Amino acid sequence: MFESLKPVAADPILGLMAAFREDPRDNKIDLGVGVYMNDRGQTPVMDAVKRAEAKLAELENTKSYQGIAGDAEYNSRMLELLFGSGHSVLGSGRVKSLQAPGGSGSLRVGAEVIRRARPEAKLWVGTPTWPNHIPLLGSAGFEIEEYPYYDIASREVNIDLMLETLRKVPAGDVVLLHGCCHNPTGADLTNQQWDQITDIALERGFVPFIDIAYQGLGDGLDEDAYGVRLMAEKLPELVIASSCSKNFGLYRERTGSITFIAQTSEQAEIVGGQAMSIARQIYSMPPAHGALLVSLILGDETLCADWKAELEEVRQRIISMRTLLADNIQNNAQGVDFSHIKRQKGMFSFLGIAPEHLVRLREEFGIYIVSSTRINLAGINSSNIDYLANAIRAVLK
Ligand code: LMR
Repeated sequence: MFESLKPVAADPILGLMAAFREDPRDNKIDLGVGVYMNDRGQTPVMDAVKRAEAKLAELENTKSYQGIAGDAEYNSRMLELLFGSGHSVLGSGRVKSLQAPGGSGSLRVGAEVIRRARPEAKLWVGTPTWPNHIPLLGSAGFEIEEYPYYDIASREVNIDLMLETLRKVPAGDVVLLHGCCHNPTGADLTNQQWDQITDIALERGFVPFIDIAYQGLGDGLDEDAYGVRLMAEKLPELVIASSCSKNFGLYRERTGSITFIAQTSEQAEIVGGQAMSIARQIYSMPPAHGALLVSLILGDETLCADWKAELEEVRQRIISMRTLLADNIQNNAQGVDFSHIKRQKGMFSFLGIAPEHLVRLREEFGIYIVSSTRINLAGINSSNIDYLANAIRAVLK
């Protein structure tokens, strides 16, 4: 039977990661996959995670199956992280959250539940969006529409066109939004823009589906959740996929959450049950290890404070790499303006250079960048910044 299958093109991000690993050059630089690296170019296990692992090794007394919704304590701690303690929705009974396998698994469960609830709903995604959003959500069966998000010329959110398009979204459709640290552009919505979009969602009656995979890497844990918290307060229904891959550094542990807000507590119960039946059909139950660590960290005052301090270091390092890179390449022969890199948030920005420049960076200099020109700022460090800046200036000559 397999003779009928055709080879598949490599994933634009994970394929690049594989190509980077195979490149034998010592001075190669990985600005591709969205993984945090410290100034030594390493992706360390966070100290709070290491300590939680030691604690878990002592406490854990079974590897028996968990429930389909994962760890109950993880689910409630993740809700507090997302909404902040004291948020009105938390005591309302209208929220259901399930542990799911990473941000991607969470998105998929959310998509399947929406498809069951309203099969005719179209999914509106911003242009551009994370390249995997479209295959991941589209293969759940959504018909996908686009709204303009990023303006390449001004290197800002194209807010007027975005709002104009959202004002035409039919009631009952679903609009995908990035909670913070927009992937791939780094161009985030301001609080005022979140206010405007929330008003339009209320007026039009569309349901936002928020993907928040980088909480804490932009302006801070609470600041980055402004849109999520606002929409949770104002809107009757909301779907949120969140991930612990980046802010806890738990990438390979596949630790995420899918959260639903329904109009009533009865509906929330039903939505939770539907989500569990979907999870059962796909993977039965989520992997336990990462969620147990997160739950231990968030439930222990000292570990939690230390984790927050480590995350703040990560955030600050990314901000300083933004300034370092932008300042080092601003003075280039083609007069390309890179000042947007300093204004943007999270791990990514578009470099905004031509495709042939990207090819030269990779072939001549061993610098790996996704074809959209998205760079991972965390791939820059004090040892490679001069080489990187010289290479970018050289291809722009
Ligand atoms: C990225 O955007 O690079 C990350 O979210 C990793 C991935 O799965 O694409």
